[in-house]
Amino acid sequence: MAFIEIRDLVVQFTRISEDGSETAGKKAIDGIDLDVEKGSFVAVIGMNGSGKSTLAKCLNGLIIPTSGKVLVDGMDTSDDSHIWDIRRRIGMVFQNPDNQIVSSIVEDDVAFGPENLGIPPEEIRERVDNALKEVGMYENRLKGAHMLSGGQKQRIAIAGAVAMKPQCIVFDEPTAMLDPKGRESVMRIIRQLNSEGITTILITHFMNEAAQADRIVVLGKGKVLADRTPDRLFSDMELIDRAGLELPPLIELREVLGLSDSIMTVEDMISELKKQCR
Ligand SMILES: Nc1ncnc2c1ncn2[C@@H]1O[C@H](COP(=O)(O)OP(=O)(O)O)[C@@H](O)[C@H]1O
Ligand SMILES: [Mg+2]
Repeated sequence: MAFIEIRDLVVQFTRISEDGSETAGKKAIDGIDLDVEKGSFVAVIGMNGSGKSTLAKCLNGLIIPTSGKVLVDGMDTSDDSHIWDIRRRIGMVFQNPDNQIVSSIVEDDVAFGPENLGIPPEEIRERVDNALKEVGMYENRLKGAHMLSGGQKQRIAIAGAVAMKPQCIVFDEPTAMLDPKGRESVMRIIRQLNSEGITTILITHFMNEAAQADRIVVLGKGKVLADRTPDRLFSDMELIDRAGLELPPLIELREVLGLSDSIMTVEDMISELKKQCR
């Protein structure tokens, strides 16, 4: 059994017109089947409106399927009695750091989630300290959250998720509002958490971020257009065009230079170029 199992998932929002009558809108998710294995790192990409955020919210029961099923560790998100067990397992980090900060002091903010879980105070202290160290923000624990940069706030939001000790974290475009330095620091933390065993789902519109995952799921109009390793996805230009995507800058450079398809990282590129210059 996979950690997350999605079967024939459909989400259709209702449209409420001015006279108050409700009609079915178009399907935001239109028949998705997907498994996510424990410990894996899955990127989800696709054009605006393709259903990425809707899918993310289905994973911890923020949105309940119109039809089909989402199972987390064998528990159905439609079953109310499991909802807190599911939310304990799956943390969420969203795009806008300002919307995720709830307390004015950094360490209070990180404590908010575990407090809601009813964790004893001594353990909260330990979890908050560890989570802040994990994201490199322990030195800033007593600062006012308003003093932090966007990237630092996002690291605090990640610490808040980590302090809940989830088995999986879903990141919905966590770097979209950050500058390049903030983006890199957040990506470093995401890779580190995954290497420590946290199942990682990263929704992104940066192709170089998606390329760091084990597997990339491409959404288009609520359906899965592809589900492949980064190297197999980014060597399929027809699909990239059809899904309205771009190549990661590194892959684009590789193509322009006519280098081997096996080059997927900056390190690969450097060693290949050194070889050719010899
Ligand atoms: N709460 C909602 N009510 C009605 N329609 C929605 C709602 N949330 C999303 N949608 C629609 O569902 C589709 C998918 O949206 P979303 O999942 O946010 O896409 P993405 O994150 O890929 O940009 C879009 O057409 C969007 O307008
Ligand atoms: Mg979205």
